[in-house]
Amino acid sequence: MFDEVAPRYDVVNDLLSLGQTRRWRRVVVDAVAAKPGQRVLDLAAGTGTSAEPYADAGIDVVACDFSLGMLKVGKRRRPDIDFIAGDATNLPFADNSFDAVTISFGLRNVNEPHKALAEMLRVTKPGGRLVIAEFSSPVNPLWRTMYLEYLMRALPEIARRASSNPDAYVYLAESIRAWPDQDNLAAWLAMDGWENIAYRNLTGGIVAVHRAYKPVSPASSTGPLAKVRRSRRASR
Ligand SMILES: C[S@@+](CC[C@H](N)C(=O)[O-])C[C@H]1O[C@@H](n2cnc3c(N)ncnc32)[C@H](O)[C@@H]1O
Repeated sequence: MFDEVAPRYDVVNDLLSLGQTRRWRRVVVDAVAAKPGQRVLDLAAGTGTSAEPYADAGIDVVACDFSLGMLKVGKRRRPDIDFIAGDATNLPFADNSFDAVTISFGLRNVNEPHKALAEMLRVTKPGGRLVIAEFSSPVNPLWRTMYLEYLMRALPEIARRASSNPDAYVYLAESIRAWPDQDNLAAWLAMDGWENIAYRNLTGGIVAVHRAYKPVSPASSTGPLAKVRRSRRASR
């Protein structure tokens, strides 16, 4: 499916998100807070749009995805970025090899997300961070109703006119509805071994950015739900 949408993926994204993706991506980059000399894995990187800001800042970023169609479009656009074909549930990287791992609008698409979260933990250095951007659940009930109307009715119609594979966007809407909300995703992270978990809502919770850390030692973990805290920053 991703191979098929690859050629127009970024254009359709901008269109369907009404230009919001750029702002969401800036928040992710700030949360990753990569410093020169650090190594970042952008997982489910698609065409590399989510990896670009790190490359632009001179950070050593690896863009990994299992869709060769997406990787080809990415490599053509940004030959300077290191694109690697790999499955999130069986990563082709050594243990403890990245200072930060990030995944934007990808985890929801992975068939076995818990397996992917375990793999991300394995390849992250102790004390390193994970930043996830994913569609989530609008907090305000009225905003939520309006959003769901858009998601289930308008979005597939716009995609029908703009995308090379409109069915992929029906899948998009359905998969967003089926995805865990902010607190449940935070609980998943705790369950899968991450700690100091926090999240921030964007655009009223349409998107949430979760950040979590790999324990420095297995003993530093203090019990799952105690580690989940809501970001103080209000949703915007
Ligand atoms: C919606 S795109 C996101 C691309 C990019 N991160 C962005 O922000 O534009 C989701 C990507 O997840 C990838 N993906 C899904 N399952 C995967 C897996 N098991 N391993 C690696 N990539 C996967 C797809 O190939 C697709 O490129």
